[in-house]
Amino acid sequence: MSNTAVATSSGAAVLEDVVKHFKSGSDTVHAVDGVSVAIPRGKLVALKGPSGCGKSTLLNLLGALDRPDSGRIVVDGADVSGLSGAAEVAYRRDKVGFVFQMFNLMPYLSAIENVMLPMELRGEPNAQGRRTLAESLLSRVKLAPDRHRRRPTRLSGGEQQRVAIARALANDPSLILADEPTANLDSTTGEQIVGLLRSLASDDRTVLIATHDNSIARQADLVVTMRDGKLVGRDEG
Ligand SMILES: Nc1ncnc2c1ncn2[C@@H]1O[C@H](COP(=O)(O)OP(=O)(O)O)[C@@H](O)[C@H]1O
Ligand SMILES: [Mg+2]
Repeated sequence: MSNTAVATSSGAAVLEDVVKHFKSGSDTVHAVDGVSVAIPRGKLVALKGPSGCGKSTLLNLLGALDRPDSGRIVVDGADVSGLSGAAEVAYRRDKVGFVFQMFNLMPYLSAIENVMLPMELRGEPNAQGRRTLAESLLSRVKLAPDRHRRRPTRLSGGEQQRVAIARALANDPSLILADEPTANLDSTTGEQIVGLLRSLASDDRTVLIATHDNSIARQADLVVTMRDGKLVGRDEG
């Protein structure tokens, strides 16, 4: 499915023949094995496939948490595979928002403080401005006001994921990368979280959800399917 025609920057993200292998003893794991795909802007995209097929590795590459062995990754017109140093840090902080299966909130910070943290890291100097924006993001993800000052241990799983989504939005990223965001939630709560993620996909923001939950895939505008590190399907919803 290699296709050089994807070499355009019009999409939210474009991958060109991206390869990431891991050495494990004498074995080589072909986690991402020559993936070329264009992810359109403003869509809810599901990345499907069985456990171990390379979904998390692909998300990590898109988020510059890891670097490809070869190939090119262009997000918002910028070549992410070539970033290093301050530019790489700024990309991760400002262009992408991560949402994880285990929520990954800071345990000693309240919900509001968790959401303010990426703004602080960006260097937003106005503390009251950070707090006001965090409050509005927590309202946007529909976390009840009486939960805003609680630490994660005093929030339900669904509430924690809402905080994590608000945190992902803190610096207004163009790409949200959600890795199995409903895997630790009951199905009703999971549906609410998917509905919330869906509402975030807009003209200038793309939401990519790695999942093996078919009910998420059914709600997506586009379903990309991987198997053994390769892209095996691309279906418009
Ligand atoms: N840091 C790593 N070191 C070695 N192998 C890895 C590493 N990360 C992932 N893998 C392997 O790469 C393959 C793809 O993993 P992953 O991207 O986590 O798949 P998925 O998210 O679809 O379950 C698996 O075989 C996994 O064991
Ligand atoms: Mg995974």
